[in-house]
Amino acid sequence: MPYLMAFSSMVIKIEKDYTRTSPKIADAGKHEHSHAHIEEEREDELKDNKIENDDYSDFIKAGKIVGEILKETEEFVKPGAKLLDIANKIENMIRGKGGEVAFPVNLSLNTIAAHYTPTYNDETIVTEKDVLKVDIGAHSDGCVADAARTFCFNPDYDKLTEASKKALEEAIKLCKPGALISDISAVIEDTITGYGYKPIQNLTGHGVGQYIVHMEPTIPNIKHKSGKTLEEGMIIAIEPFATDGKGHVRDSQPIQIYRIYGMPTVRGPEARKLTEMSVEWMGLPFAERWIRMESQFKVRMALKELRDRGALHEYAPLKEDSNGMVSQHEHTVIIKDEPVVVTKF
Ligand code: CO
Repeated sequence: MPYLMAFSSMVIKIEKDYTRTSPKIADAGKHEHSHAHIEEEREDELKDNKIENDDYSDFIKAGKIVGEILKETEEFVKPGAKLLDIANKIENMIRGKGGEVAFPVNLSLNTIAAHYTPTYNDETIVTEKDVLKVDIGAHSDGCVADAARTFCFNPDYDKLTEASKKALEEAIKLCKPGALISDISAVIEDTITGYGYKPIQNLTGHGVGQYIVHMEPTIPNIKHKSGKTLEEGMIIAIEPFATDGKGHVRDSQPIQIYRIYGMPTVRGPEARKLTEMSVEWMGLPFAERWIRMESQFKVRMALKELRDRGALHEYAPLKEDSNGMVSQHEHTVIIKDEPVVVTKF
């Protein structure tokens, strides 16, 4: 699942070299922050999330689960399949293989780059004209692995699909300790433009950690200047997006993926119930279709109260601005002299 950032703030973030101070996340709901701002604070707070004793076993376990499933999707992600069935099946497969779901399966069609997950009554069926991005996150004891592939059923977009795949392969070759992140971004952009397409400038790869899907470092998909380097032992998700559009996404509808910040104080019984569910989901992103309540009305009341409190992060489906078609490929990689692609398939 990608990290979305406005182009201008991305540049500022890189140039500031991540030196912002961070209020405690527990206070987030009490202040008038924008959602994006709160997200950044949480990342800052968690940026020293170190892997102790060089123990990557849970990341490797989660990665193996994601990789196996991405391979097995070839059996059932096909024209005629219902998106809702695909999502349920993949989420059950994660648990069946001994993992936990780190975020709702993203099934983003055509001009939607990311962050679409089926609604509870979704009737959408994959067709022979579609380009479908399947982005999966699993965790083991909180350790997150995140990877994606594109199913292109429309031969007109085979090259577009290949562009993001090749960009990912080229980027992974550079994932060694001391590598400049700007070099990785440059190879992503150059590979995609070499195919005649554009990278999406406001979607980035990201670090992953324990019970966190998006953290430092940010891996832009376009050229930029920064002295930031990869360090031995970092775990990052690299995810190039290629498009035949202008290379920019913006929020669209319907929002189906959310995350609750910390433990907000809420009054309504529905909002309280949802907050308790969020604790069970370990504060990770969840889908509206996961919320079990007597009615959709109560689900919406719960979400509204949390939104009004500023305690709800909403991941809107991200649509290419000029209605460009979008492809994506992603792997989670441990930075070593020989990079370890944990989600390989
Ligand atoms: Co991701």
